[in-house]
Amino acid sequence: GVTAKIAPSMLSSDFANLASEARRMLTSGADWLHMDIMDGHFVPNLTIGSPVIVSLRKHTDAYLDCHLMVTNPLDYVETLAKAGASGFTFHIEASKNNWKELVQSIKSRGMKPGVALKPWTPIEEVYPLVEAENPVEMVLVMTVEPGFGGQKFMPEMMDKVRVLRKKYPSLDIEVDGGLGPSTIDMAASAGANCIVAGSSVFGAPEPAQVISLLRNSVEK
Ligand code: DX5
Ligand code: ZN
Repeated sequence: GVTAKIAPSMLSSDFANLASEARRMLTSGADWLHMDIMDGHFVPNLTIGSPVIVSLRKHTDAYLDCHLMVTNPLDYVETLAKAGASGFTFHIEASKNNWKELVQSIKSRGMKPGVALKPWTPIEEVYPLVEAENPVEMVLVMTVEPGFGGQKFMPEMMDKVRVLRKKYPSLDIEVDGGLGPSTIDMAASAGANCIVAGSSVFGAPEPAQVISLLRNSVEK
């Protein structure tokens, strides 16, 4: 069967209470914590960086699924690894010329390399990274334009997920943006197994219920 990784996006949490928000998600059944790192340049928003990962790491052993929406991802590998990041997912649009070096550097520092793509980037662009001698271990298909939580899920992106799942039966495929009870079945049936959810989980009266609903949809 498929193993789901449910990853609440901490972008929707109360950043002033990050440790308790993380604990709340983990006790509600989250597998991973999704950390949105934005530089105000690759995307029109500025969020957190490695100092915040350092602080959070002191409070949890959880898998920190870092999503780098930055222009120069290679510049962040060393500090994020030292900070305690678990996964390092960079954007293909920001690494066209150096993804081999980047993947190598991420792996050598003990993090799991992933590649993300924006909605209008064709899926073919990630094939070389999945098929490389030193491959990425996850593909993140963005289902909104990166930059902000709370946007509307783009169902057209499910074609990318289906194509990837068909080509790579055991690849981790993550979806991010607008996932919740009303969209999860589209993503799960297309073949996504790693699910990022921000506003739908943090906005729920009972996050545990939403997390288990997401998991059941992927694992059924
Ligand atoms: C958007 C971020 C997402 C975002 C998801 O750029 O990558 O992780 O926080 O939030 P929701 O689930 O609210 O769309
Ligand atoms: Zn994200």
